Amino acid sequence: MLPSSIMRTLLICVCMTILYNSISGDCNKAAVRNALIRDNNLAEEEEVVIYLVLIYQARFFNKIGVNNGMAGNNLPTPEQAVALMQNNNIGKLRIFDAQPDTLKAYTNSGIEIIVSVTNDELQNISSSQEVADKWVKDNIQAYYPATNIKYISLGEQALETPEYGTYVLSALNNIQLAIEKANLQDKIRVSATNGRAVIPASFFPSKGAFSDSVKDRMRSFLQFLEDHGSPYMANVYPFFGYLENTSISLDYALFKSTAPTVRDEGRIYSNLFDALVDTIYSAMEALGFTDIPIVVTGSGWPSDGTGDNAHVATMENAQTYSNNLIKHVLSNAGTPKRPGKSMEVFIFALFNENLKTGDETERHFGLFYPNKTLVYPVNFYP
Ligand SMILES: *[C@@H]1O[C@H](CO)[C@@H](O)[C@H](O)[C@H]1NC(C)=O
Ligand SMILES: *[C@@H]1O[C@H](CO)[C@@H](O)[C@H](O)[C@H]1NC(C)=O
Ligand SMILES: *[C@@H]1O[C@H](CO)[C@@H](O)[C@H](O)[C@H]1NC(C)=O
Repeated sequence: MLPSSIMRTLLICVCMTILYNSISGDCNKAAVRNALIRDNNLAEEEEVVIYLVLIYQARFFNKIGVNNGMAGNNLPTPEQAVALMQNNNIGKLRIFDAQPDTLKAYTNSGIEIIVSVTNDELQNISSSQEVADKWVKDNIQAYYPATNIKYISLGEQALETPEYGTYVLSALNNIQLAIEKANLQDKIRVSATNGRAVIPASFFPSKGAFSDSVKDRMRSFLQFLEDHGSPYMANVYPFFGYLENTSISLDYALFKSTAPTVRDEGRIYSNLFDALVDTIYSAMEALGFTDIPIVVTGSGWPSDGTGDNAHVATMENAQTYSNNLIKHVLSNAGTPKRPGKSMEVFIFALFNENLKTGDETERHFGLFYPNKTLVYPVNFYP
């Protein structure tokens, strides 16, 4: 390649970087990329350089994710949700099942998706390879790759429950085998979500450890993740962490601390989110697993509610938490235990869900009202 052509390639890369970040939707991006390559009559080496830059950007320009629950009778259609996400720089979605209309709506959207097996389906999948194969055929192969499915999550916090916990491991193995039969094992990773019940609260992240009641099951689960290059999926809620120990400062829970709050084995923590994530890394390390990444499948803060939690479930706190979380994730700062490691985080939730059961705060976790207006100002381009 001549020096002048290198210059040209670099210039095109700069243009693409600017364009890429002003365009929503990977579909449109692909069109821009193809047009640029075509219209500039690029040599093969130039194309290679551009693709390398794009891969680098994909890593660098991490996007925030959201959960789209369905516990509402006034929610927008899946198509409307796709448009809303694309217009707001939201690049990842977790759904709690494998609803056909939803999977169809995300065709060619580029949005990366976590599809879930529900807790109720675990038993049958765990006891029959045939059922697992059919599940993958009907819910994954029918939509992939047009719908960009990245992960399959088995159950919702099932591992820790007495009803479903015993099914998770064999369900994981059966779905993994089904994925391998479909030759998708390099594209789609299989895992399961876990809540805070599996790790007792630990003020010092380095002291994180799985509770005795799940330790054996957890060891097999982690072995599965390590063997298949799958991430540990965790729901991480400083909101509940703060409520469990209100002598923690609220600023620490909201990413507002200006000074180091916790010093732990030479590491400095100024927010509870990082502390909770590193507590999980510590718990995995204590069982000998040092290399499994964490995907945060749920995190959020309610903007309203009644009852015991209402005093911190305010519009102002929710706005502060969501905006600071997005900024933190998109900065790719990582955590003190994994500095600079970009993390996938799915905010709970895209919409307020009026039929969600439990405490009133549960119905106010949304970033958007069902009419698609923001509940509070959110900067998706920090
Ligand atoms: C599990 O399998 C049984 C027997 O085929 C069936 O009756 C039941 O509906 C299945 N359960 C679920 C949740 O699919
Ligand atoms: C609660 O937080 C305080 C610091 O604010 C800490 O010293 C204490 O150990 C925590 N308690 C528990 C049970 O984690
Ligand atoms: C959307 O719904 C919220 C909550 O009900 C309401 O406050 C807001 O005015 C609505 N926005 C529009 C544009 O209708």
